[in-house]
Amino acid sequence: MKSKLKKLIPRRILFLYYLHSAKKAVLPDISRRVHDKVYNDSEAEKVKRDLTLAYHIVEKGLTMPVPRPGFGKNVVLGLADTIFRYRNLNLPHDDLEFRQSVSVLREYLSFHKDLNFNLDSDVLEKLNHVMKGLGPIEGQSQIMFTREEYFRDKHEPFDKFCMSRYSVRNYTDQEVPLQVLYDCIDLAQKSPSFCNRQPTRVHIVKSPGKKNKILEIQNGNRGFGHLAETLLVISSVISTTKDIHERNENHLNGGIFIMSLLNALHFHGIGACSLNWGVSNDKDVKMREILNIPENEVILMIISCGYIPEQISVAASPRKKAREITTEHLS
Ligand SMILES: Cc1cc2nc3c(=O)[nH]c(=O)nc-3n(C[C@H](O)[C@H](O)[C@H](O)COP(=O)(O)O)c2cc1C
Repeated sequence: MKSKLKKLIPRRILFLYYLHSAKKAVLPDISRRVHDKVYNDSEAEKVKRDLTLAYHIVEKGLTMPVPRPGFGKNVVLGLADTIFRYRNLNLPHDDLEFRQSVSVLREYLSFHKDLNFNLDSDVLEKLNHVMKGLGPIEGQSQIMFTREEYFRDKHEPFDKFCMSRYSVRNYTDQEVPLQVLYDCIDLAQKSPSFCNRQPTRVHIVKSPGKKNKILEIQNGNRGFGHLAETLLVISSVISTTKDIHERNENHLNGGIFIMSLLNALHFHGIGACSLNWGVSNDKDVKMREILNIPENEVILMIISCGYIPEQISVAASPRKKAREITTEHLS
């Protein structure tokens, strides 16, 4: 809307006009999402999603700084059921999600066997049932590194560097100097952004009180978040977008920035883990209060980070191959 005209219109009318066009622009996306949840019977995609969500929780549990014997009972039982659901759909047994799920349950069994820990009989029975039918299926085991091994490729060429980063969920209390964090943020600032508008912002949180409050309302840091020496809360300035059609740019530009930041932290010998900010509005409001984040910033994600102990375990989180996720349009 032309700026002269804009000045003549009462703010309230302008607000309603923008709200109306925003709703019109956003509705098709919302409706596509709701449709997917209600009408899309693509069982294959959904069962693979459920496998991944569950096997990843078990992977994480196996690699916690102090794994808790018997952890995740309900997730493990649910994962076994989802494996049977997958098998009953006659889907291929060499799909990554299926192989990794079976493999993670095998690892769960051997982890407890090594500890001489007696799993509950219902868990044992179900997992043995999975192993009986699907025992030979192979996936990737969780990985143990010494600190030196983990950072061995941090100054190697990009391909080696890139493959050597993992989410690290174990930190020492050694202080990460602010200057090192600023060096990492400067590297991440080299990320491309829409028309070079550089919408992403970083909130460095070292205050123990504030870190605790933030971790309390984030739902993916149990067992390791409390060890983070620093939290980086990443946000993005809404006022950098021109209109509603640019609404995804905050998250898109932020995602590109965050990947660079994760790489920069790795380059500087700092372990880091992304923490999702898929939260309800009341939690978002709380975070704004804790860090005094203004209304024209959208909160994107948190990174927990710190220097790492002499020995760490990381979740394997295997990837699909390029050919599995790519469609060619060649003529
Ligand atoms: C947007 C986003 C949100 C994430 N949220 C969490 C989280 O809440 N807790 C967690 O432990 N890991 C979280 N992760 C880390 C992923 O589990 C991890 O990146 C994935 O399994 C791939 O493993 P890698 O980072 O070791 O390569 C998140 C990652 C991304 C990109």
